[in-house]
Parts: sequence; C-alpha cells; structure tokens
Amino acid sequence: MRVSASIALSLAALAGALPDATVKRQVSQLRPSYDFVIVGGGTSGLTVADRLSKAFPKKTVLVVEYGDIEYGPGSYDPPAAGASTWTFTSLPNPEVNNKTAFVAAGKVVGGSSVVNGMFFDRGSRFDYDSWAEAGGQEFDRSDIKWDWGGIFPYFKKSVTFTEPPAALAKKYGYTWDISAYGGSTPIYSTYPPFQWADQPIMWNTWKEMGLQEPKECGGGDKEGICWVPTSEHPVTARRSHSGLGHYAAVIDARKNYDLLTKHQGIRVIYPKEHKSKTPIVEIRSLADDSLFNVTAEAEVIISAGALHTPTVLLRSGIGPASVLKAAGIPVVLDLPGVGSNLQDHSGPSISWNLTKPGNFTPVPANMLNPDFLADATAGFDETPARGPYTLGMGNSAIYLSLPHLSPDHHATIISKIHKIITSGSAASYLPPDQRASRASRAMIAGYEAQLAALATLLANPRAASLESPWQTTGTSAGAFLLHPLSRGTVRLNTTHPLAPPILDYRAGSNPIDLDLHVAHTRFLRRLIDTPTMRGFGAVETGPGELEEEEVVEYVKRQLTLSFMHPCCTAAMLPEDRGGVVGTDLKVHGAEGGLRVVDMSVMPLVPGSHLSATAYAVGEKAADIIIEEWRQRD
Ligand SMILES: Cc1cc2nc3c(=O)[nH]c(=O)nc-3n(C[C@H](O)[C@H](O)[C@H](O)COP(=O)(O)OP(=O)(O)OC[C@H]3O[C@@H](n4cnc5c(N)ncnc54)[C@H](O)[C@@H]3O)c2cc1C
Ligand SMILES: *[C@@H]1O[C@H](CO)[C@@H](O)[C@H](O)[C@H]1NC(C)=O
Ligand SMILES: *[C@@H]1O[C@H](CO)[C@@H](O)[C@H](O)[C@H]1NC(C)=O
Ligand SMILES: *[C@@H]1O[C@H](CO)[C@@H](O)[C@H](O)[C@H]1NC(C)=O
Ligand SMILES: *[C@@H]1O[C@H](CO)[C@@H](O)[C@H](O)[C@H]1NC(C)=O
Repeated sequence: MRVSASIALSLAALAGALPDATVKRQVSQLRPSYDFVIVGGGTSGLTVADRLSKAFPKKTVLVVEYGDIEYGPGSYDPPAAGASTWTFTSLPNPEVNNKTAFVAAGKVVGGSSVVNGMFFDRGSRFDYDSWAEAGGQEFDRSDIKWDWGGIFPYFKKSVTFTEPPAALAKKYGYTWDISAYGGSTPIYSTYPPFQWADQPIMWNTWKEMGLQEPKECGGGDKEGICWVPTSEHPVTARRSHSGLGHYAAVIDARKNYDLLTKHQGIRVIYPKEHKSKTPIVEIRSLADDSLFNVTAEAEVIISAGALHTPTVLLRSGIGPASVLKAAGIPVVLDLPGVGSNLQDHSGPSISWNLTKPGNFTPVPANMLNPDFLADATAGFDETPARGPYTLGMGNSAIYLSLPHLSPDHHATIISKIHKIITSGSAASYLPPDQRASRASRAMIAGYEAQLAALATLLANPRAASLESPWQTTGTSAGAFLLHPLSRGTVRLNTTHPLAPPILDYRAGSNPIDLDLHVAHTRFLRRLIDTPTMRGFGAVETGPGELEEEEVVEYVKRQLTLSFMHPCCTAAMLPEDRGGVVGTDLKVHGAEGGLRVVDMSVMPLVPGSHLSATAYAVGEKAADIIIEEWRQRD
C-alpha cells in the first residue's frame, strides 16, 4: 500500500516526537503580537488555525490551549492511558428523579476529538436546514448560508474518506456513496477491516421492523439502518484527530502557526469601551498562575467548546446583564443568550435476554480467550492493521423519524409543540431568569422560533428523532433523543470564576421530551418480538408491558442525561432571538473581530454525534474569515 507524505507525517506524529519539538509552553517563547489568537485548541479551533495560517503566510496565528500534547488511544484499543479530560456533574434534574448529568470533554491538544468514540456520522440535510429556519428572515438576507447547501461542501472538504476494499465491503455489507466525500484533509475516516460476527443480527431485526437501508447516510439523507464510518487512519487504524490532522501534519511547513499549551484563556479585554477594536486576550499560566496579555492585531476566536466558551465570554463581561451583575463583573455586552440554550442527547435503553443465543465467533466475549486476545493485539500492530482493535465504538445505528416510529402518536406530539407557540406559553419552559426581564423577550422569541423549526423537523418522515447505535447484539438498545425541546444553562461559578462552570441541564423541563422518550421506548420494545429475535429466544427484561404512566417512570429511572454532546450555548441566531453570534460567527455588538467557532454556535443540536459537524463548522468559519480578510487587505 502506498503511504502518502501526509500519512507518513501523521505516523511520525503518533510517535509523539514531531509536535513536541514545536509546541510552546511559556509566554517568553511567544512573538510580541499575533494577527489571530484562538482560545482553545480543540476540534474546531485547530481546524481554523490550520486554514488561516495556510491562507495567510504573512499573518501569524496563536492557539492557546489549556491541555497539552498527549497520545489519544482509540475508543477500542489495547489498554492504554487515555488523554486528559474535563469532567462535570450537572445540578440535579427535578423532573427526572433528581438525576445528574455526567459530561466529559477533551483537555488536550485536539480537544474532544482525542477522547471521543470515533463514531463519525453527520446530521441529515433537514437538521442543518432547521438552523436556517430558526434564524428566520434576518438570516435569509445574509450572504452566508448555514443550511444543508451551505455546510455540505465543508463536510466533504473536512475529511479524507478511504473506501474499504471491495472484498471487505462484500464480507460485511458496507455501503457508501463516494459523492458524499472527496476531501484530502489529513483527518481520516474509513470502514474498519473487522466486525463482530453477530453484528448482522440487529441489522436483520431492524429490517424485519420495516426500516429502510440507505446506501449512504452522510450525504444528507439519513433515515433507516445506517453504516457509519470510524474516524481513524485507513492503514494504521489509529484514531484520527484534530491535533494530528490540523497541527502535527502541517506544522513543519507553517512558520506562522504557534501553539501555546498549558495556558488558560481567561477573558478578552476591550481597550476602554472600544468594541469596534479587536480585544486583547488575558491568559494564565498553569505552571505558575501568572497572567499575561496577548495582543491580536486582526481577530480573537473563542473555540473552547460548548461548556467553556460561555465561561470565557462571561468573564469578559459578555453575557446576560443580570448574571454578570450578580457575579460582580462589569457588563461589556448584554447578551442573554451566552450560556443559555444548552442542549445534549439523552435517552433510556430497553433490554432483553437471549435464551438461545446461538454460537457466533468472533464476539466480544472471545477477547477473554488469551490466544484470541494475543492475536488481536498483534494484528493491531501489523501494516495494515487488522482485527478487533481496528474498531471504534461501532459502525452501525438506526435513525428513525417520529412519523415512522410512532404513526399513532406523532401528530399529537407535534400539535402539542404548536400549542406552546400559539398559546404564548413558551416562556414558562425557559429558566426563570429568562421569563420576565426585558432581555428575556429575545430569549422567548428565539425559543419559539426553535420550537417551530423542531415541529417541522419532527413531522418530517425523512428526519430522524431516534438513534439507536450498536456494535454487537448485546442485551440492550439505547434510545437517543436526537431533538430535545428542554433548554439548560452553563453559568459561571460566581465565587470562583476560574472553577468549572455550573451546568443545569433542566432535563424534562419541557415535558414533550418525555413524550418523545416514551414513543421511542415503545418503538424499540418491538424489536424483541421480531422473527430474528424470537429465533434467539429473546425475553424482555425492561421495561416490559406497562401502562403509559409506568413507561414514563421507567424512562426517568433509566435515563442517561448526556451522551457527551453538549452544545448550543452561544447560538448563531439573530440578537432579537437570543442569539450570541451572527452568520459570520461574530459576537453580536463586537464588530472588532471577536468570533466563536465551536459546538457552542449551533442553534439546535443536529441528529448526529458532533465531531464531523465540529470539523465542518471549523472549515466553513475559516472560509468566512479568510474571505473577509482577503477583501480587507
Ligand atoms: C467522551 C466523549 C465521547 C464522544 N463520542 C463522540 C463520537 O463517538 N462521535 C462524535 O462525532 N462525537 C463524539 N463526541 C462529541 C465530539 O467529540 C465533540 O462534540 C466535539 O469534538 C467538540 O468540538 P469543539 O471544537 O466544540 O470542542 P473541543 O474539541 O472539546 O475543544 C475545546 C478545547 O478548548 C480547550 N479549552 C477549554 N477552555 C479553555 C480555556 N479557557 N483556555 C484554553 N483552552 C481551553 C479544551 O481543553 C479543548 O481542547 C464525544 C465527546 C466526548 C467527550
Ligand atoms: C429532588 O430534590 C429536592 C430537593 O432536595 C426534593 O425536594 C425533591 O423531593 C426531590 N425529588 C425527587 C423526585 O426525589
Ligand atoms: C492586561 O491588560 C489590562 C487592560 O489594559 C490591564 O488592566 C492588565 O493589568 C493587563 N495585565 C497584564 C498582566 O499585563
Ligand atoms: C436475564 O439474564 C440475567 C443474567 O444472566 C439474569 O440475571 C436474569 O434473571 C435474566 N432475566 C430474565 C427475565 O430471564
Ligand atoms: C465554586 O467553586 C468552588 C471552588 O472550586 C467550590 O468550592 C464551590 O462549590 C463552587 N460553587 C458551586 C455553586 O458549584
């Protein structure tokens, strides 16, 4: 197999030598000033840094990252220490038995792409069209489009997809449509050369339940039983991530791209009320706690992820005035949307036992056999890699729309959403501090616009409401709620502004989410009664035949509140809809080059895991910034 130059580079990077020699860890190693300063060297942030430093060889780019260079093993690799993570526990959620959400994120160069499950799906075209719908007429007038047509080219550009060999595709039934790909960026995805032998059982079960089998689910149409690529290198099967593809693979050729690790972006500071100027960035050394100001000549870009970006803005005095005043922070820009609109994927699971499980080999239990395990370990180090360790968290999932999964109840659920809008009761679902003040009018208008877009989405038989991923047959199936209606918050710890933010998920605060969970649970239960499952002697272990009220209680007991997809906390919406950034990703009211580029900017969470979207948002943002500076220069 031919190994290209960029593959060779990323192999060197895997050994750890290449990036470590170039990374800066002390402010004394920095230049006197930079053109672009990016706070957060994660999935989106490094994508932007790579593109800007390439487009403008004469402009300098600095990335400030809290974590450091670390090796990121795959999500299913031989035992190895994982890279560092941030971990958070939310406040209790009174509507769901006071449960708390446990959430993690990468604290490392490459961010969450270094620690995630490598499940590399994209949302459907309708998910991104809903962003444009929530933006409304004001955004329709913008030249920059964030609907499917506006983002699909960046999905293609952001990744190099390697087609599996024909024999492999035939063996496992992999399908894809190459027209959904075509990029040559050194962020890799492919289908692994291995699947567990019982993977097809679930596939057959879903088929018996009448689901479609799209050939490709990354091209905008994603309803049915899907193959999903893994974000890994096609030869080594090692994790592909932003730190490798957007830093290690390019840094040798980029004299204008600096990465400062082990430093925290504290806040941006405007020179005396001049919001039309570019702010300076205050950073803190983790080594000795000292503070330092970095000057950005052109722009500051905040890419600290959906849970930290709001903290940087709030510490800068950009956020809801009431929250800032309570924290004793002078108000620079009163933007009630900062740290609001928190969304994530959540869900219960259903379970069963197989009394006649059959005899499949290989299945995960074979890894307990020392000979099988030794061969798996050896295979992972071969070129090309082979065997079980080439897997990530799996390559298959169903994505199903509400009309398909609940033909009897979907109309009732959708009319409940419309009723919230027409009865003017949307405010009662928002956090109390967003219900009554002058600023809250914008938050309410934004929430109503989101509800209208969600009603459109949930009524669409081609737009999924439920995801259930799997890798092996197992004894349970998760029911991911793809389009939640409840909205949470990320707030500063007012006594310790540098401490982790306080997350309030407010799960179930809009009870329609529980209706959706119930509909999903009822649908999934039916899989136990398919001919395939009956053939394996499936016996349901949860929830079983229950009355409506009991299913609600089961959902509350069973619910996992976060599938690690927090987002939407600095939403791209008009200011009078509670937005924080416009279609150019500039913070409203901060014309002097302050943008947000990460998973905070999505107004609505798409029906997918987020990393592919994080890369695409980074790519599109970079193009917007490059275009603007080409015109200005
Ligand atoms: C455990 C886990 C599993 C997941 N599984 C999948 C999956 O299988 N498939 C999928 O597609 N998605 C998955 N995701 C989600 C996906 O990886 C993330 O949503 C996405 O990578 C987020 O990108 P981002 O650019 O918004 O933020 P990140 O990539 O998280 O980057 C933010 C960066 O900013 C840094 N930072 C934060 N605050 C500061 C500060 N003040 N100063 C300096 N630096 C700062 C952080 O250390 C981090 O490096 C998973 C996430 C997690 C955590
Ligand atoms: C949740 O916690 C609150 C405060 O401690 C308590 O009043 C309430 O009864 C709890 N609810 C449940 C369902 O446990
Ligand atoms: C950073 O700049 C601000 C505003 O000019 C100033 O108040 C602060 O003292 C500076 N910090 C350092 C460490 O120089
Ligand atoms: C299912 O299997 C588990 C583990 O083998 C067992 O503890 C449980 O009793 C079984 N439940 C049913 C309903 O068969
Ligand atoms: C704020 O941070 C401090 C220090 O880490 C911690 O003791 C305190 O509990 C936090 N406050 C809240 C409300 O979480």
